[in-house]
Amino acid sequence: MPSLFSLAGKTALITGSTRGLGFAYARGLAQAGAAVIINGTQAEHMQSALAALETQGASARGFLFNVADEAAVEAVFKQLDEENVHVDIVINNAGIQFRKPMLELALSDWQRVLDVNLTSAFLIARTAARRMVARQRGGKIINIGSLTSEAARATVAPYTAAKGGIKLLTKSMAAEWAQYNIQSNAIGPGYILTDMNQALVDNREFDQWVRNSNPSGRWGKPEELIGTAIYLASEASNYVNGQIIYVDGGWLATL
Ligand SMILES: NC(=O)c1ccc[n+]([C@@H]2O[C@H](COP(=O)([O-])OP(=O)(O)OC[C@H]3O[C@@H](n4cnc5c(N)ncnc54)[C@H](OP(=O)(O)O)[C@@H]3O)[C@@H](O)[C@H]2O)c1
Repeated sequence: MPSLFSLAGKTALITGSTRGLGFAYARGLAQAGAAVIINGTQAEHMQSALAALETQGASARGFLFNVADEAAVEAVFKQLDEENVHVDIVINNAGIQFRKPMLELALSDWQRVLDVNLTSAFLIARTAARRMVARQRGGKIINIGSLTSEAARATVAPYTAAKGGIKLLTKSMAAEWAQYNIQSNAIGPGYILTDMNQALVDNREFDQWVRNSNPSGRWGKPEELIGTAIYLASEASNYVNGQIIYVDGGWLATL
């Protein structure tokens, strides 16, 4: 049974993985046997993430680049090509939040959030999938959605539009790439304790709302996302395609 979930011999690129959920995915995939390539934009975050992965005995390396920068993405994949490193698994995890009522929202802020949360997933998946198709050994694409892939809340319109887009971009990838034995799926995390949500945790009223509105009565922990990521990255999900799996403690079930 465990071999069904083994990632031994696989290489995984996880974007936005120097902290938070991305770092948890990187740790989990490495524990399942994958060599991991992590990514972020800040050198000090990269250093501490690589040091922690090294302590765990993981095979890990890192690239600092902005996921929304096409030239930077191409350069990373070119370098990997030159080193004969093939990416078997991509987790499009990098994301940013920006809270502002839509009536006050500037186009530049709308665009920035769409670029990092949605366009980057197209860009990186396309760049990786071109190589997976040429290599004829299939692959796994895992995009990261959110509860906002299903439901909206005030003040986060660009994030909501991007995460709604992730759900149908994932289906588009499945529709086009299933024929190449590439499975494209998404994870929709609920409210999870990471830096991105620190302001919400510190807000007593919001914190209480999360606890009261979730049938599990609590926030999720980053490590609670790892099992779903390993499943979607492994052979165990070879006939699962175009799905989004919510890991939310049951929050959406009560809507
Ligand atoms: N936390 C939640 O409750 C929750 C819920 C639903 C969905 N999600 C989604 O899960 C993903 C991760 O969220 P998180 O809470 O772990 O976020 P986080 O704690 O803010 O961490 C974000 C990570 O992304 C990196 N990053 C940010 N902008 C980047 C860019 N332009 N290019 C490359 N890397 C970039 C950061 O690296 P540097 O610091 O080095 O830049 C960091 O490693 C996001 O897509 C988010 O929307 C989170």
